[in-house]
Amino acid sequence: MVTIEGLKKSFGEVTAIGDMSFNVANHEFLSIVGPSGCGKSTALRVIAGLTEPTAGKVLVRGAEVRGPIKDVGMVFQAPVLLPWRSVLTNVLFPIEMRGERRSKYQAKALELIKLAGLEGFENHAPYQLSGGMQQRVAICRALVSSPQLLLMDEPFGALDIMTRERMGFELQKIWSVGRQTVIFVTHSITEAVLLSDTIVVMSGRPGTIKKIVKVDLPRPRLASMMKDPRFVELAADVRDQIDAQWVE
Ligand SMILES: Nc1ncnc2c1ncn2[C@@H]1O[C@H](COP(=O)(O)OP(=O)(O)OP(=O)(O)O)[C@@H](O)[C@H]1O
Ligand SMILES: [Mg+2]
Repeated sequence: MVTIEGLKKSFGEVTAIGDMSFNVANHEFLSIVGPSGCGKSTALRVIAGLTEPTAGKVLVRGAEVRGPIKDVGMVFQAPVLLPWRSVLTNVLFPIEMRGERRSKYQAKALELIKLAGLEGFENHAPYQLSGGMQQRVAICRALVSSPQLLLMDEPFGALDIMTRERMGFELQKIWSVGRQTVIFVTHSITEAVLLSDTIVVMSGRPGTIKKIVKVDLPRPRLASMMKDPRFVELAADVRDQIDAQWVE
């Protein structure tokens, strides 16, 4: 689904991504973990075709990315909602952008809103919601058109730990049905192990790949598995790769 070959990205003097190569298979759930500033958000933006690489290339479905790609759902690190629109019409926004009728997707949007625990807030404006609720709206918006590729940049970063865990399991449920290809950026090692097939561990800036860890735990992943010796071992493996000053 996605191939990243020798990707480098500099902003003037600053080298954000030093060298990055990996593949993401169709239906795979891949996480990227690494310290702040190592180029995780930049990598997602390059994959989505929102930023040009300085060197190397990205292929999505076999075609080189040369501009914003289609059939992708994107969740940014900070929720970017349209302030004058309701929750429901924010969720339906990508449908309008594609020139399709909103009414066709209304039921799907309402189902996602309910799944995200936002029932009753359909007609609220973003400013009437907490940051975490706004982020959940952004997740619904990314899913509404059922894209086969999901790029998620710390989607649960602003949520409290309990909601975060619940959303992780909700995402797993959505993924187990839709079988999207997911590239998921997180600062949480536990979350990465719980959700992923593959974890790409990055070094500090300039970001390079330190290790690619395959998560061989059975699915569905359950909360009880966090105590499983294999889970603990995988989490320790990821943690060992991370620069000592970086804590979860
Ligand atoms: N548009 C830009 N212009 C200039 N520098 C940028 C730009 N975007 C990112 N950078 C720089 O590139 C580096 C990587 O940024 P990026 O946002 O990708 O990091 P990150 O791994 O997502 O960090 P975090 O975990 O804090 O979100 C940083 O040093 C940042 O200052
Ligand atoms: Mg980031």
